[in-house]
Amino acid sequence: MDNIKIPTHVGIILDGNGRWAKERGLKRTAGHLAGYKNLLKLSKYVLDKGTKYLSVFAFSTENFNRPQEEVDYLMDLFIKGFNEDRSYFKKENIRVVFSGRRNRLSDKVVAAMDKMEDETKDNTLGTLNICLNYGGRAEIVDAVNKIIKDNKKDITEEDFKKYLYNDLPDIDYMIRTSGELRISNFMLWQISYAELYFPKCYFPDFNEKEYDKALEEFTKRDRRFGGLNNHEQS
Ligand code: IPE
Ligand code: IPE
Ligand code: MG
Repeated sequence: MDNIKIPTHVGIILDGNGRWAKERGLKRTAGHLAGYKNLLKLSKYVLDKGTKYLSVFAFSTENFNRPQEEVDYLMDLFIKGFNEDRSYFKKENIRVVFSGRRNRLSDKVVAAMDKMEDETKDNTLGTLNICLNYGGRAEIVDAVNKIIKDNKKDITEEDFKKYLYNDLPDIDYMIRTSGELRISNFMLWQISYAELYFPKCYFPDFNEKEYDKALEEFTKRDRRFGGLNNHEQS
């Protein structure tokens, strides 16, 4: 397909790690490791294509309700992964930021996140926003509480945006792998006018080829934002 459209901000709900592992007779945790490795490769691919912001849902506030063993595995993976792969993000010129509440995360996880943000802050290829201990409603409520603390009385949408976790444009294209047709509390403010895409494959299999297919689909979409396109105006 010619003239592929490149979304400025892509959001991906990284879903299906557990089912990917189950299909192979492996433990769910093996799926998380495969998903994490895929994220490293895919984030570079997405940003290399010209997208400036990639937000990924890695761990929801609700994911703390999973069995302790799985939560512990994921937290260890974050600590080890972020510490080991800082050099990768530095080399690839990717800025990494995090969205979410830090309160239930261990000191080691928070330290790995802080170090990653600090050491990649001047990178310019694009931004990878990792949503970790993140909830879309929590982000809005946290913003409202900051607004109250600031004694603001009247606020516009533009002002409100400044109180969200990170300074990001709206999401243009929201992808959820694994075939589930729901949002599960992902970036509720930012997806208002996003195009939605639900590929069937599990996240560890969502590779470059699958992403190219996703971009072809995005290119076909007719975005209107409530108005009319040029060719529709008589
Ligand atoms: C997504 O994969 C990763 C996280 C939520 C941490 P899942 O773990 O939700 O995998 P499925 O949906 O059970 O297959
Ligand atoms: C959403 O996936 C959260 C992440 C991908 C981190 P879940 O697997 O937790 O969502 P539900 O439970 O299927 O809605
Ligand atoms: Mg899931």
